[in-house]
Amino acid sequence: MVLDKDALWYRIKKMNSLSTLPEIYDRVSDMINDPKTSAANLASVISRDETLVAKLLRIANSPFYKATPEKITSITFAVALLGFNATKNLVLSVSIFDLFHTFEESLKVTVRGFWKHSITCAVASKIIAQNARHKNPEEMFVSGLLHDIGKIVEIQYMPEDFKKIINIINTKEVSMKDAEEEVLKYSHTDVGKMLGVHWNLSPRIIDCVRLHHIPDKAIENLTEVSIVHTANVLSHSLELDYKVPVLNQKAWEILNLKIDSLEPILKQLKKESIEAIAVLFPKK
Ligand SMILES: [Fe+2]
Ligand SMILES: [Fe+2]
Repeated sequence: MVLDKDALWYRIKKMNSLSTLPEIYDRVSDMINDPKTSAANLASVISRDETLVAKLLRIANSPFYKATPEKITSITFAVALLGFNATKNLVLSVSIFDLFHTFEESLKVTVRGFWKHSITCAVASKIIAQNARHKNPEEMFVSGLLHDIGKIVEIQYMPEDFKKIINIINTKEVSMKDAEEEVLKYSHTDVGKMLGVHWNLSPRIIDCVRLHHIPDKAIENLTEVSIVHTANVLSHSLELDYKVPVLNQKAWEILNLKIDSLEPILKQLKKESIEAIAVLFPKK
């Protein structure tokens, strides 16, 4: 069944599991918006979820995320050291995986591939942000993680259409976006944007999701979109994908990266993405 954009928007609003982000993220967001919230209050709310705490501390101390040279031993310390917004992005990065879990057996391998690519793109976005001296590498990490989120909605909620899309890509050798347009009349970037708006994510993250294939269309968040666009291309090249997207000239120029920096970035990405996948999406 093909849904037009309005019908899809209606359906996203109705989808129980997608109608809100993981509860803990909503709670953390609300607290951050309240000027009366202290670091201790925020830490005590997060601390109620032991599994989340264990994951957060592991990630906060991992080279692929590490924002500070100091070892973070408690959530209170993490909140104090990272600040409210970085903590919020960290909670979102850990809990997003809980939203998507019921898949057809035949699509399980595709789902694993999807998350591996998304995590690699998250790590690449963070590395590029650091190299480009961007002020918020943690937000770039979460933007990279979510850049293709529309695809997982298609896999989970429109499995038959998604199989048709894959079939078209393999037989006609067209891009994912063109195949999606043919079957659905919209693409994963449209679905992702709708979700981002619905979840009340920052306009920077939404632009990265919406424009990562056409970075030169970005007006307000050109640097951020260029980072995720470049990270997506590097992730595909690392995955030895036979359809590596073309790197947009304007995106490359805006980041002001030297061509010599590509090799060390790819080397770091290779190492850190393996570790990030093991922590965020371990093999069950
Ligand atoms: Fe994409
Ligand atoms: Fe991608």
